[in-house]
Amino acid sequence: MQIPVTSSDRVFVLTGAGISAESGLPTFRAEDGLWAGHRVEDVCTPEAWSRNPALVWNFYSRRRAAAQDAQPNPAHFALAELEAQLGDRFFLCTQNVDDLHERAGSMRLLHMHGELARSRCERECGQSPVEDCTIYASLDEVGHCVCGGRLRPHIVFFGETPLEMDRIQQEIAKATLMLVVGTSGSVYPAANFVHWARRTGARTVYLGPEPPLNASAFTHIVEGKAGEMLPRLFQLS
Ligand code: APR
Repeated sequence: MQIPVTSSDRVFVLTGAGISAESGLPTFRAEDGLWAGHRVEDVCTPEAWSRNPALVWNFYSRRRAAAQDAQPNPAHFALAELEAQLGDRFFLCTQNVDDLHERAGSMRLLHMHGELARSRCERECGQSPVEDCTIYASLDEVGHCVCGGRLRPHIVFFGETPLEMDRIQQEIAKATLMLVVGTSGSVYPAANFVHWARRTGARTVYLGPEPPLNASAFTHIVEGKAGEMLPRLFQLS
């Protein structure tokens, strides 16, 4: 199946963990997924951070190491190529915290759940997040902000508000075609984006090996792996 993209289309893409699966990074909710060995409440909530920052940093340090070893796959490159064709008529929002989209060449890109390669002050003191790819062996190695607060991963924990929601809403309102790739449709507000796009009449396409939880909201479901299907999904005119 091919999706036609015309010269008047504006494309909004939402990606989830599935797009990085073929790069060797585990998804969250698979049987052998990232959450399988962890209770989310122990590693990805504000309470976990207050209770045991060493455990949180251990988890995110291991994810940093895995992401640094991974390479973009054909699905990441296909989206960068689509952006090169469409320019400002393309926007990519990812739930992923790895940097594989950037490394494939994507530029009009927003990380709504944060970025593994950055850290920020735990006190939200107003300092911008800093680049930080360090794989910490212990909490003693973790630096502090100028205000004295400890650096925490620049990750949106469960219960925190995703980043740049105003911008995301503006971009969805402009889109005539929404493509959602490799996300189970179980985490909000991302799982609602398809509904917002439908309200303004956009075509909505999901690509992944199985239908997501919010499948009924899509106008098309394309079943398959992102790395195999995405490079030949679009027909530009
Ligand atoms: N190509 C495309 N999709 C795939 C592939 C693949 N090769 N392999 C797996 N998938 C799909 C699965 O079918 C599943 O629907 O990717 C999806 C992954 O779902 P989740 O593990 O729930 O990941 P995601 O939806 O990105 O999670 C959303 O939840 O835990 C939080 O903050 C975390 O950003 C994450 C959010």
